Amino acid sequence: MSGFGVYIHWPYCAAICPYCDFNVYRAKDRDPEPLLEALIADLEGHAARFPTSPAQTLFLGGGTPSLLNGRQIGRLLAAVERILGLTPGAEITLEANPEDRSRFAEQAAAGINRFSIGAQALDDAALKALGRFHASAEAEAAVEAAARTGGRVSLDLIYARHGQSLSDWDKELRRALSWPVEHASLYQLTVKAGTAFARAQARGVLAAPGPELASAFYEATLMTTQALGFPAYEVSNHARNRAAWSAHNLLYWTGGQWLGLGPGAHGRLLTPKGLIATEAHARPEAYIRAVRETGIGWDQSYCLTGEEAGDERLLMGLRTVLGAPIADIEAFWGRPMRRDRLALLQSEGFLTAEDGFVRLTAKGLIVADRIALELSTP
Ligand SMILES: C[S@@+](CC[C@H](N)C(=O)[O-])C[C@H]1O[C@@H](n2cnc3c(N)ncnc32)[C@H](O)[C@@H]1O
Ligand code: SF4
Repeated sequence: MSGFGVYIHWPYCAAICPYCDFNVYRAKDRDPEPLLEALIADLEGHAARFPTSPAQTLFLGGGTPSLLNGRQIGRLLAAVERILGLTPGAEITLEANPEDRSRFAEQAAAGINRFSIGAQALDDAALKALGRFHASAEAEAAVEAAARTGGRVSLDLIYARHGQSLSDWDKELRRALSWPVEHASLYQLTVKAGTAFARAQARGVLAAPGPELASAFYEATLMTTQALGFPAYEVSNHARNRAAWSAHNLLYWTGGQWLGLGPGAHGRLLTPKGLIATEAHARPEAYIRAVRETGIGWDQSYCLTGEEAGDERLLMGLRTVLGAPIADIEAFWGRPMRRDRLALLQSEGFLTAEDGFVRLTAKGLIVADRIALELSTP
């Protein structure tokens, strides 16, 4: 276990995008105040129950936390500082929609030092199809506004979209990476059950790229980013250099601990009982009520079994260039990893096993989940 951070989920959005299945709600007619108060009370409830340590990272994710103004963000950050403490130079990230760029300066003044900007596409027709309110010029303006604050800047893009060609994607990617960003999260479009896109696909209005084209998109992404000096350090995450890696996301991928606050937030905490997984009530009203009534927003918390903790460490570690630590995983499982399977997957070019770590090759990254399953089966 290494590192500790805080994730705060702000679930409200100006509108719900047709591809998104995150825990999100329309911001219209919602007063942010009860949720802000509940988040701070939840933090206090946590500190009353568990020993605390200063946070090395704080991630305000969503939903759309960039809807919050500098004063509101300042209140949240001050509460974390007062109740847990923040280590010097802590990474404090805000997930931000481009249309909220006029607030970036006040948000940075409140303590945000890293902006993760949801550009999603650099093609105006595609942005419209994604249900977004911004044009690509506004995404560029948002990157510039974030860079002007002196903060670190990351960009989110979605590719393998309906109707997008490999050469369209190549052009978008090259343009985006010429902007003043140090990091990019590049996600293949996943059409999730229950979303408007899933309904459109079911009606035959939209057609998703088949598995071969999807693999071609991923391989092209790896090659172009590498050539442009943004190599992948995780399946979907790319950075200019080691210092630009997301310290907060590394907690998830390297067995760190984090406190999850806000509707639907997940957490992982090491307690005297063992490693516990926590999940907060998903609906904002239920979360706010739970915090008022019990002092904490959790809907459920349970101790991970050794098998579950080992599987999670393997799957997450395999997603990164750091790899998965074999001895740690075996210690969680209480049994050895199958060396015959490791050797076979290595001979087939999917992975390497050196210095006690399993690391996936580019060929292995495409099928990371399947390899994790093969290695975790006794
Ligand atoms: C939960 S969203 C929050 C970010 C912010 N509200 C925004 O929309 O820009 C985080 C990121 O997940 C990605 N994402 C959401 N739904 C997706 C999907 N169905 N397929 C691929 N990426 C998705 C988007 O790139 C998005 O920026
Ligand atoms: S993609 Fe972002 S803005 Fe759109 S619904 Fe999801 S969280 Fe909200």
